[in-house]
Amino acid sequence: MNIPNHVAIIMDGNGRWATKRGLDRSMGHLEGSKTLEKLAIHALDRGVKVLSVYAFSTDNFKRSQKEVDYLMNLIVKYFNTKFEKISKKGIKVLVSGRKTNLREDVLKAIDNIEEKTKNNTAGILNICLNYGGQEEIIDGAIKLAKDINNGLDISNFKREDFYKYLYHELPPIDLLIRTGGELRVSNFMLYELSYSEFYFTNTYFPDFDKSEFNKALFMYENRDRRFGGIIENSK
Ligand code: FPP
Repeated sequence: MNIPNHVAIIMDGNGRWATKRGLDRSMGHLEGSKTLEKLAIHALDRGVKVLSVYAFSTDNFKRSQKEVDYLMNLIVKYFNTKFEKISKKGIKVLVSGRKTNLREDVLKAIDNIEEKTKNNTAGILNICLNYGGQEEIIDGAIKLAKDINNGLDISNFKREDFYKYLYHELPPIDLLIRTGGELRVSNFMLYELSYSEFYFTNTYFPDFDKSEFNKALFMYENRDRRFGGIIENSK
């Protein structure tokens, strides 16, 4: 089976999942975090080496203070205590995004989880937090400009060379999954997504369980990836 090396998920629909049940939106985020924990382990078991997830965008700060606080508290709790299984499984946790505007305890929790899992080699869980795709490209361009000022020769600079200027040097994304029914990319990993396959589902993220994930892998297996070229006898 042709398994994608790097899968990315836009975990959408937590709020609607909760509202539909007459619950507060925060219950959707709580349920979503449990789903994420299970999926991270399942993805690795299926042979996916890198899983990137959109936990909080730079634009999510526009939400109510109550919701932002709930999400930040949840993330701190998961990073500090609840990622034990993920860590034991040999998954390295990375956090991508801007460090500005984040609370002190959030920054500390990021350091904790990255430090605790830094020697893990089985797979990577990349959590995008206070993240924007255009911001990542801008921040990378600024780093590159500094290197150019320090004498870097860019006469032969290729698109692959820019990956090391992103928040973490990860492989390109092979498969993007968006739950919750919207058909957009919402400023998520724009550089890394350039040739990825897209899978959209109406399922709300808290309900996106292992079997839903397997459906996305099955779809991926049946796609022709041509990277701009032509494959003879393709479907
Ligand atoms: C989008 O759904 C989801 C988010 C903004 C938050 C996603 C966060 C998690 C799943 C928890 C992450 C936890 C850890 C430990 C990293 P929405 O709220 O926009 O849903 P809606 O479109 O139905 O309103």
